[in-house]
Amino acid sequence: MFEKLSVTDLTIQFDTRDGLIQPVDHVSFEIEQGQHVGLIGESGCGKTVTALSILGFERGVPGIVKGKIELNGQNILPDFSHFFDSKTEIAYQKKQNWRRWEKALSLSLSPFLGTVFSMIFQDGSKMLDPLFTIGKQLVEALKLSDEMKNKSKMDLKREACFWLNRLEMPEPEKTFSQYPHQLSGGMIQRVVIAMALASKPSLLIADEPTTALDVTVASKILRLLKALCTEEELTLLVISHNLAVIRELTQKVIVMYAGQIVEILPSHDLLPERIKHPYAKALLDAQISDLVIATNSLQAIPGEVPKPSEQIYGCRFHPRCFLVKEKQEQGMQDFADRCKTQPPSLSILEENQSVRCWAHTEVPVKETLQS
Ligand SMILES: Nc1ncnc2c1ncn2[C@@H]1O[C@H](COP(=O)(O)OP(=O)(O)OP(=O)(O)O)[C@@H](O)[C@H]1O
Ligand code: SF4
Ligand SMILES: [Mg+2]
Repeated sequence: MFEKLSVTDLTIQFDTRDGLIQPVDHVSFEIEQGQHVGLIGESGCGKTVTALSILGFERGVPGIVKGKIELNGQNILPDFSHFFDSKTEIAYQKKQNWRRWEKALSLSLSPFLGTVFSMIFQDGSKMLDPLFTIGKQLVEALKLSDEMKNKSKMDLKREACFWLNRLEMPEPEKTFSQYPHQLSGGMIQRVVIAMALASKPSLLIADEPTTALDVTVASKILRLLKALCTEEELTLLVISHNLAVIRELTQKVIVMYAGQIVEILPSHDLLPERIKHPYAKALLDAQISDLVIATNSLQAIPGEVPKPSEQIYGCRFHPRCFLVKEKQEQGMQDFADRCKTQPPSLSILEENQSVRCWAHTEVPVKETLQS
């Protein structure tokens, strides 16, 4: 029975040609049973890597996961401490260690895949094997649930068609025998959602579930996803660039920037007067102006998300932050200096709102600069 997922100080490192990079840095959040949570941020902020780590999908990539992922209070991440150099806190870069780590991760998380956690991937079509029919792949997903694993072929086919029908596929029996290349993008996405839900998971992670689709198909699928999550009493973690999608589907939103959480707030507070972090505000402004001006492109936030290999001192958003510029123009150089040299921590503002920004902490500029 799923009650709560708690992610604490989740840190992910990858061993790349540029050295050891850290695309996810001490990320902590909670998802309660039945809650629908959104994860937003620009491309490259670490949303997918965070979500995949919950499922242990870094397998195959030389990487390391640190922190805690607790399911109902029990840590489901294996203890990786022996893979680290105790002095440098850096993972040993030896192939045999990576393999042992992959095995440990796989053993510890595989009992939960499909049954407790299920995922709709960013590119749905990659979830389907082009060599097998939709029916065969859907039946394999069904067999992950205790309820269905010992059922006859007939029963499994009936259940698979029932799910295709629930996803409003026009001809479930026909789709059952078709191959992925015979379906449209919208149909593929419906199949992928059916596969993710058929094993009756408790927590569904949906990574950009409709980005590849045109607006009309996307809005139909989102409505369907929302209805199914409610009917199945699913807990949902949805990742999206689109704040309208997040407002529609979720109650709580987590804003990520450059591998860190910068704001957590109720989704109904995704409003210019309620949102606090300058980055979250800029994201909101970009989308509002996009809607108002009705152009095809977002009014981009100046600059780019830094690469995980880039070292940034102080607040990671400071090179792009409008508030830093404003304060400098007002002669408040101390404020700007603090942003450039000292990393702010995530502070609780109100019961449901936390922000990582010096402008929203109680500590006066001088006091912090001296500490
Ligand atoms: N396997 C990997 N090896 C090395 N670097 C990786 C790997 N996977 C992701 N990254 C890097 O980690 C950072 C975060 O990637 P991630 O896919 O989580 O971003 P995202 O927020 O999901 O972006 P998008 O909105 O484009 O999907 C990026 O800089 C990416 O290049
Ligand atoms: S800490 Fe400073 S640079 Fe960072 S978001 Fe807040 S005001 Fe901007
Ligand atoms: Mg992504």
